[in-house]
Amino acid sequence: MKSVLFVCLGNICRSPTAKAVFDYKLARAGMVLETDSAGTGDWHIGKPPDPRSQAFALDWGVDMGGQRARQVCREDFHRFDRLFAMDRANLEDLHRLAPPGARARIDLVMSLAPDYGLDEVPDPYYGGEAGFRRVIDMLETAADRLIAQLDTGV
Ligand code: 4NP
Repeated sequence: MKSVLFVCLGNICRSPTAKAVFDYKLARAGMVLETDSAGTGDWHIGKPPDPRSQAFALDWGVDMGGQRARQVCREDFHRFDRLFAMDRANLEDLHRLAPPGARARIDLVMSLAPDYGLDEVPDPYYGGEAGFRRVIDMLETAADRLIAQLDTGV
């Protein structure tokens, strides 16, 4: 596994947070992986992450302010080894969008951390602060599990 794309709906809350948290954890573990994030929707193309996501990420220790939203494109299915969807709707959209011959493997991001007990990262956009905090907690656990897998060569 050399490249990973994190995918949510708007690309302003969950998937940019995933990129920021995974990048931070991978760097700390001394691992090199190309990462990016994208959304299945087009409403927020070109926009920075939601200010609430940015604030919680900063509080956690990472600055995600440099990311800009983009939409998943056909090329992503050839360019990335793995696509990690935040929820089942994203997963279904990705399977639907996958062009013939796509090489990327598509999974839910929380399939990395079955011990967490939740298979979807809930969309925090219309909810309160607890939702944003939970997004970081879930993705932190998923990143830890990925690093452990890479460490043991899985
Ligand atoms: P995300 O959250 O998919 O985690 O980026 C959302 C952000 C915006 C919208 C939906 C989800 N929206 O409908 O505008």
